[in-house]
Amino acid sequence: MIKRITQAVEYIRTKTNDVPETALILGTGLNSIADMIKNPILIPYKSIPNFPASTAPSHVGKMIVGDISGKKVIILQGRVHFYEGYSMQEVTFPIRVLNQLGVKNIIITNAAGSLNENLVPGNIALITDHINFMGANPLIGENYDDFGERFPSMHEPYNQKIRKLAMDIAFENNFIIKEGIYVAVAGPSLETTAECKMLITFGADLVGMSTVPEVIAAIHGGMNVLGISIVTNLSNVFHSEPHSQEEIRKNAAQAKSNLKTLIQELIKRM
Ligand code: HPA
Repeated sequence: MIKRITQAVEYIRTKTNDVPETALILGTGLNSIADMIKNPILIPYKSIPNFPASTAPSHVGKMIVGDISGKKVIILQGRVHFYEGYSMQEVTFPIRVLNQLGVKNIIITNAAGSLNENLVPGNIALITDHINFMGANPLIGENYDDFGERFPSMHEPYNQKIRKLAMDIAFENNFIIKEGIYVAVAGPSLETTAECKMLITFGADLVGMSTVPEVIAAIHGGMNVLGISIVTNLSNVFHSEPHSQEEIRKNAAQAKSNLKTLIQELIKRM
C-alpha cells in the first residue's frame, strides 16, 4: 500500500511542486464550490496511479491544486464510497495521498439526511462527533506505523479550534451554522423508518454514507479535520412536513453561497 501511495504522490509532484497546507473534499452536489479556486491545475483522478475513480453520477473525480484567499489548497472534487464496492482502504486512499503530500488540515464536506428536526434542508452543520455504523473500518489490517499508531485516539476527531473559527466566521457574516453528530451507514439503500428511529436513539443528528472512513484515516495520519454536512433532506421519520423541490433548491443554493464564504475565510485564517 505504501508503494501505491508513493506512486500517486510522485505523479502529482510531476504536475505541481506546491505543498498546500489545506485540502477540501467536496461531497454530493457541492462541485461548484471549486469555482472559487484561482490558477487551477486540474489532475483527473483517472490519471493518478492507483487513485480510485468515482462511479457516482454527481461526482466528477478531479484533483484541483490552486489558490483560495491567496493560499495554496488542494480540492478533491468527488469521492468514492464504500457502497460503490470499494474497500475501506480504497475509499481512504486519497486521504493517505494528501497526508503524504504534506497536507495538514482537511475540510471534509458531505450531503446528509437529518435525524433532528432542528436541522432542515439547506442548513450547514458542523460535525461535532461521529458514529461509525458502516460495519467496517479503514484501519483494519496491517498498521502502517509511518502513518500513525495502531489504536489512534478518537477523543476529538473534529478539531475544536477550527470549529470555533467556523462559528466565528458565520457570526461575523450573518449566517447560521448548526452542529450535529453524524452517523455513517454503508448504504446504498436509504434508512427505513425503524432504522432512523434507532439512529436517533444512538444520539445521531445527521446520517450519510461517507466522511467517517476519511476522518478516521486523516486522524490516524495526524491531520486536523473539519467536517461539514449540508442537510439535503429530512429522514423519513419526519414525513409529516414535506418540503417542496423549489424550497430545497433555494435552501441548497443559499447554503452554497454561505459555504463558499465559510471556506474562503477558513482558508485565510486557519
Ligand atoms: N441518508 C443517507 N445518506 C444520505 C441521506 C440520507 O437521508 N441524504 C443524503 N445522504
